[in-house]
Amino acid sequence: MKTIDDLEVAGKRVFVRADLNVPLDGDTITDDGRIRAVAPTIARLAEAGAKVIVASHLGRPKGAPDPQFSLAPVAKRLGEILGKPVAFAADTVGDSAKATVAALGDGEVTLLENLRFNAGETSKDDAERAAFADQLAALADAYVGDGFGAVHRKHASVYDLPARLPHAAGDLIATEVGVLKKLTEDVKRPYVVVLGGAKVSDKLAVIDELLGKADRLLIGGGMAYTFLKAKGYEVGISLLQEDQIPAVTEYMERAERDGVELVLPVDILASADFPDLKTKAPADFVTVDADRIPSDKEGLDIGPKTRELYASKLADAATVFWNGPLGVFEHPDYAGGTSAIAQALLDTDAFTVVGGGDSAAAVRTLGFDETAFGHISTGGGASLEYLEGKTLPGLAALED
Ligand code: 3PG
Repeated sequence: MKTIDDLEVAGKRVFVRADLNVPLDGDTITDDGRIRAVAPTIARLAEAGAKVIVASHLGRPKGAPDPQFSLAPVAKRLGEILGKPVAFAADTVGDSAKATVAALGDGEVTLLENLRFNAGETSKDDAERAAFADQLAALADAYVGDGFGAVHRKHASVYDLPARLPHAAGDLIATEVGVLKKLTEDVKRPYVVVLGGAKVSDKLAVIDELLGKADRLLIGGGMAYTFLKAKGYEVGISLLQEDQIPAVTEYMERAERDGVELVLPVDILASADFPDLKTKAPADFVTVDADRIPSDKEGLDIGPKTRELYASKLADAATVFWNGPLGVFEHPDYAGGTSAIAQALLDTDAFTVVGGGDSAAAVRTLGFDETAFGHISTGGGASLEYLEGKTLPGLAALED
């Protein structure tokens, strides 16, 4: 894979595919981690005299402009981080984009509007994607792929566009891939994986793969209740994916047979009500053993005994990968489980990798020092699919 150093960029229009898909509350960015992560690549290109055209998706608009998914607030924040103005183009390949790019001087930066405002970006139809990629290619002389969070998407700007321009991987992708390689090739043991998040169906493939790789799998978050149900426990009105019970049962049997420790919560904070995440009004919950969740209550966080148990399972780890919050961390009463795991990661001497999206945001919003972790990935789905051993379209497209 070529890097930026292999590209001629001075005086050239360089298209940087970033992942600036950040969480927004109205037009306030609630976690700017992804913008900060790609900013050094943009700054380096600008310093080298490139005319930098940054592009990204944000959210999942339906192939047409939708103001709630505009990247305008991101352009402003990117400018603050770079310490220089970022011209914002109000479309992707239309008059505004063409004029903004034409006006760029060497070392200047523009951000295009949300790529997914154009149906060609995410189309499953190769020709439709190709047509959009042709239009994007006309804007630039070279391509830098640095949107690690989106490399698992076979989208026009991720997969089709690099084939049309001299291309290289950006610094963020190089770092992310370097870290994930440490987890897949010759991992230092004990290798402990913590998996949380809402849906077990999103994690099936990675569990399947990790059962052959990890020494311990610690399960939490909404997905834990499908495992507890599969063990025959009452889970009340907890999140449950009934149709995944056979798969989960097979994983528990395989773990037992292959000597992989698959560890489930032993106690739970359960409530009849989902907490109010806006007012954060105090929640009314009980702490119960994992096989005693009352039938009218749902589990919303792992309990104190589980936090201690998981911390003990992490203490001697040499490598840790963590993806997905352990509870509803957005509410202070249910943030304790996720905080305890973050702290346990910091307390080990292990090489710790926090994988993407919600867990990365949790680490930051719960006030942990992100630099104290080995690596905080900008890719949620992307890092999971990498660990599953899949070929990621956005990485394959950057191969020479
Ligand atoms: C993410 O947030 O995981 C990436 O930005 C990809 O977004 P997507 O799941 O909407 O493709």
